[in-house]
Amino acid sequence: MDTASFQVQKLAEQLKERGSLVIRTIAMPSDTNPSGDIFGGWLLAQMDLAAGNMAGQIARGRCATVAIEGIQFVRPVHVGDEVTIYAKLVKLGRSSITMNIQAWSRPRDQEHAENVIKAKFIFVAIDENGKSRALPDNAAENLVFTRLPKA
Ligand SMILES: CC(C)(COP(=O)(O)OP(=O)(O)OC[C@H]1O[C@@H](n2cnc3c(N)ncnc32)[C@H](O)[C@@H]1OP(=O)(O)O)[C@@H](O)C(=O)NCCC(=O)NCCS
Repeated sequence: MDTASFQVQKLAEQLKERGSLVIRTIAMPSDTNPSGDIFGGWLLAQMDLAAGNMAGQIARGRCATVAIEGIQFVRPVHVGDEVTIYAKLVKLGRSSITMNIQAWSRPRDQEHAENVIKAKFIFVAIDENGKSRALPDNAAENLVFTRLPKA
């Protein structure tokens, strides 16, 4: 395999590992902590939004975050960085949906992005009374991120 083909294959594997791109946004001055770096709570909120988006598709309805496990803040995010949130489905239970969520940050004047935070998010499908409900049959097939856009 030539160098270019190897690099393309490596990139494809890396993107598959990250999962689906769910949110891409820009870190703004209003999102900083007192030290001037981007507030971890803002990043977690973006990740929760991304996980909720994926869970809502799978569950075809209301879901709630029940747990966030193993949060790792790998490196800081700076104002102006492009922040991308990836979500990958890990497991479906009766009512629960487990996803690996990663945030990647790219300085706006640079080419390379780096992983800045990762965590496992667990959502539960809930009914109108806020009680857990069973996921639909073949729920993983509801994931529209994995489909080609309709013509
Ligand atoms: C989500 C909620 C309805 C679940 O209630 P519950 O009494 O634990 O419900 P159940 O016992 O039926 O469990 C539901 C599922 O959650 C899973 N679960 C519950 N607590 C969990 C935890 N701490 N970690 C991982 N999974 C958990 C159970 O294993 C079960 O999974 P399964 O159905 O796939 O087997 C309830 O905990 C709740 O309302 N929490 C608050 C949610 C919230 O406000 N989130 C923030 C805003 S969205």
